[in-house]
Amino acid sequence: MIRLGVNIDHIATVRQARGESYPDPVQGALLAEIGGADNITAHLREDRRHIQDRDIFLLKETIKIPLNFEMACTSEMLKIALQVKPHAVTLVPEKREERTTEGGLDLKKNRDQLKKIIDKLQSSGIVTSLFIEPTVDAVESSSKLGAWAVEFHTGAWCHAIDSAHRTPDKQQLLQILNDASYCATEHKIQSHFGHGLNYQNAQWLQLVETAEEANIGHAIIGRALFCGLEKAVKDMKALLNDPDHCPVFPRLHERKTAAPKGKKHN
Ligand code: PXP
Repeated sequence: MIRLGVNIDHIATVRQARGESYPDPVQGALLAEIGGADNITAHLREDRRHIQDRDIFLLKETIKIPLNFEMACTSEMLKIALQVKPHAVTLVPEKREERTTEGGLDLKKNRDQLKKIIDKLQSSGIVTSLFIEPTVDAVESSSKLGAWAVEFHTGAWCHAIDSAHRTPDKQQLLQILNDASYCATEHKIQSHFGHGLNYQNAQWLQLVETAEEANIGHAIIGRALFCGLEKAVKDMKALLNDPDHCPVFPRLHERKTAAPKGKKHN
């Protein structure tokens, strides 16, 4: 089964647009849980443009499923993570001027800072995931840093698969995710995916045999405006797991999951 992590940042985006107290992302997280979410992701950005400190602390107190706290690799965020003690932290690159997270971490440039933060988090019992580009090289660097999971940045991949019409092009694109994901599994690292996944492209992940989790926000929150959050979550989970939604395509590797390294999600 591919777990679904629901990113609730965009509920907070709507709240912050008017500076009101609603809609409340914590309430959204509870509805996502009822809809079948396997975990909740929230990104506390340095500029606090959507999620606020209060949201993170309340989420930890309120939801029953694991909290995945997405954060930049800074000492300010590390301090908050150690206070909140979420189940997991996903480390992401962050630029003030970007519209959303635009790419994976530069693991070579930031190696020492990443290692320091990963060690501090993991020695406090918080498993750590690194948001990286889907390459074997990035997986190998993540393994050296001691990551528990990697989340492959699928932004560019989603645009490419959405516009690929020829079978060989689709196959080539799937090979990219399969190779990176398979490499993570070989290194006993959890294989997660996120960014740009929507109701048109998420079903392709069913063909990535070692995929363990997808973290999806914008598409689910957008669809929830029309059908409600519970249903939007339920429908996305079906796209990730229901064979009726699986594109017919040759399998590239046998399905395999990472042997547990440290704490498991559920
Ligand atoms: N994973 C990471 C690391 C992200 O930064 C984001 C965007 O906040 C997501 C997943 C979710 O992306 P989207 O909103 O495009 O589904």
